[in-house]
Amino acid sequence: MIKSTLIKSFVLLIALVTFLACQENKVKEINFPPTDLGSENLIPKPLKIIPTHNAFGLDHTTAIYTSQSDKSFEGVGSYLADKIKSKTNLRLPVNAADAGKVSRMIFINQSDSEELEGPEAYQLYISKDSIIVNAKTSEGAFRGIQTLRQLIPETSNDTLAEMPLWPIPTGKILDEPNFEFRGSMLDVARHFFSVDDVKKYIDILAYYKINVLHLHLTDDQGWRIEIKSWPKLTEVGGSTEVGGEAGGFFTQEDYKELVAYAQQRYMMIIPEIDMPGHTNAASVSYPILNGNGKTPELYEGTSVGFSTFDTRKDTIYSFVDDVIREISAITPGPYIHIGGDESHVTKKNDYIYFVNKVEKIVQKYGKQMIGWDEVATADLDSTSIAQFWASRENVEEAVQKGMKVILSPATKAYLDMQYDTLSKYGLHWAAYIPVDTAYVWSPDSYAGIPKESILGVEAPLWSETISNIDELEYLAFPRVIGYSELSWSTEENRNWDDFKVRLANQAPYLDRMNVKYYPSELIDWKKSKFSYKEIEKD
Ligand code: ACM
Repeated sequence: MIKSTLIKSFVLLIALVTFLACQENKVKEINFPPTDLGSENLIPKPLKIIPTHNAFGLDHTTAIYTSQSDKSFEGVGSYLADKIKSKTNLRLPVNAADAGKVSRMIFINQSDSEELEGPEAYQLYISKDSIIVNAKTSEGAFRGIQTLRQLIPETSNDTLAEMPLWPIPTGKILDEPNFEFRGSMLDVARHFFSVDDVKKYIDILAYYKINVLHLHLTDDQGWRIEIKSWPKLTEVGGSTEVGGEAGGFFTQEDYKELVAYAQQRYMMIIPEIDMPGHTNAASVSYPILNGNGKTPELYEGTSVGFSTFDTRKDTIYSFVDDVIREISAITPGPYIHIGGDESHVTKKNDYIYFVNKVEKIVQKYGKQMIGWDEVATADLDSTSIAQFWASRENVEEAVQKGMKVILSPATKAYLDMQYDTLSKYGLHWAAYIPVDTAYVWSPDSYAGIPKESILGVEAPLWSETISNIDELEYLAFPRVIGYSELSWSTEENRNWDDFKVRLANQAPYLDRMNVKYYPSELIDWKKSKFSYKEIEKD
């Protein structure tokens, strides 16, 4: 096996060298001004960068080739070609049979190098004539091409050659993530966001190597995912939202479309069905589920903690079984999030009884359970996961039970917290979180949690105060870009003064993507097409 891979790599290498030797006559030597790969504005910061100070000239004679040993590498090559097209208008061929006009190549290579640790590790070798992305898996290659995308200048240099050319600094990058779980959560329950809105969010997150999108699909104000065996959940429970707007929901086909879209970007969707509290919308749809002794009515406010399922009723567990069965069937990822937070009107024993039973249902459908940190008070299996948002004691219990922890401390990582007292959107019950506070903390040693217990970092975006994509972007960006670095890059490679310069230089990309980020005054934003003033007027 190893021998055949070595032979394959060797054959590819010979082909590459021969190819480049043949091209030598065709390529006019370009004298690039010196470059420095080490001072490029990469986010998240890669593990190691070794500059060699020359440049690869990306132009219309560049072609992309991918390993044939693993077909999914070709998909990564096509994704890169599409992104290069939208940035530069160059349409680079992928695995073109006719190499006639090709003078430089980008090779996306499946490699079994022992230096590549884990599925997301990659190496990027950039020389004058070739760029090689090495990875064990197409997932690693996908992370690698995000780095490459960030190295392509926003504008071409039209003085170095006859045709437009985008110089990419030469050198080596060796990279892998610090944490395997790097996520954001979007609350589509308080306000509903469309499939297109979610896709746009996924696109930008993927550029920063975020690999998890947790969808908070149900809450008191709305049930947003079609459950075929309980149709009123969306017919009734999905009909409104905070503020009394029309609400909405994802059909299972919509959800599958989002899952597939995320999968193409090597991102996992984690669905959350929040229970036994935060269930008013479910109880309005099917009052038999209700356990708070009141007649449930559609709710358009923003209070929490008033709803609960009747956790001692058998019907509840038939209901939960149906919901988890249907959601599991359309969720290829390993996790189902069951919420479990702020069940203030569920008696403690009833809460524990409920969470214990629901964990078994999740496992019955072959999934691992995630819950907000309160779930750690139940008698859970070490394979279940606690999401730290509020309580250190709960997280200590989780660690004692051998459970892994996702870090989402509200005082540091909640994207819906206001930046400061002037913020147009957001809340501040946990803290004001300016862009530097969001970045300057260490997930590696947070709250005394041992690093081996930490699965990763997730930045949740609750939607009580935001109702459209512009408002979503105001709260998420730029902070979520910092969380990508907090979860991917090592502590030694993180530094606020360095980060804030790299962040300032994200403006041209964010503007090109039409992302209405919050123009924090802590950042000396690189000037781009339009100023934020114009957006504010919209
Ligand atoms: C939460 O913010 N209620 C998890």
